[in-house]
Amino acid sequence: MNYKEKLETDNIPEHVAIIMDGNGRWAKEKGEMRLFGHATGVESVREALTAASEVKVKYLTLYAFSTENWNRPKAEVDGLMDLLVNTIANEIESLNNNDVRLLTIGNTNDLPESCRVELLRAIEKTKDNKGTVLVLALNYSAKLEIKQAIKNIATKYKNGDIELEDIDDELIHQNLYTAGIPDPELMIRTSGEIRISNFLLWQLAYSELHFTPVFWPDFKKEDFYRAIYEYQTRERRFGMIGEQLNEPE
Ligand code: FPP
Repeated sequence: MNYKEKLETDNIPEHVAIIMDGNGRWAKEKGEMRLFGHATGVESVREALTAASEVKVKYLTLYAFSTENWNRPKAEVDGLMDLLVNTIANEIESLNNNDVRLLTIGNTNDLPESCRVELLRAIEKTKDNKGTVLVLALNYSAKLEIKQAIKNIATKYKNGDIELEDIDDELIHQNLYTAGIPDPELMIRTSGEIRISNFLLWQLAYSELHFTPVFWPDFKKEDFYRAIYEYQTRERRFGMIGEQLNEPE
């Protein structure tokens, strides 16, 4: 089936988030090292980003490295950081040619120096691009993000800058890493795992979730379109009943 052709162009999610999973298992099945899986996964990053740009998804957030990933063997962590630095450095031109802007979420201050430098350079060089925004979640933990937001808000309250009544969804949103970015309408996880794994816990409150058995290195544009196609067949009710959604205002 050609899913791209079937998409309703006026119902494309503005923000799609992806948990890229299964690089290690994909490599193991092929008798290869885990890092080969991650390196091949970069191809799928390109596929997902191109697909997102083609159908005008405004924000694409990719879970590239969690705070828990530091617990992996040192060689794998070092390999992932090298891959990240090299990929960003090699892709800046292509990001600019495709009008893609790069942003990050997560505690990027704790990433290795080379990584921070490369990311800052890419963020600066792509800052005026107006197409899809690629948001890389790096050294990211949703619980940590929420904890930091609570601390910021508590400090503002303590200093008398806000009243208790000022604490609403909007204020919380403004204190998350994703301040200014709309919540994802769709979250995709590859590799058959059916978990959220500390990813965008606040932001995914009303997202449609799409789980596919495809390992990340095998993820292609059609898999991305398929997820959007299935999203478009779902009824998003936000706690209401179906009939309410069709009532004239
Ligand atoms: C999950 O697979 C994947 C990761 C932890 C890293 C994802 C990184 C990339 C695709 C490459 C770099 C990314 C960018 C944006 C340049 P896993 O290792 O958990 O697989 P497993 O569950 O099969 O072990």
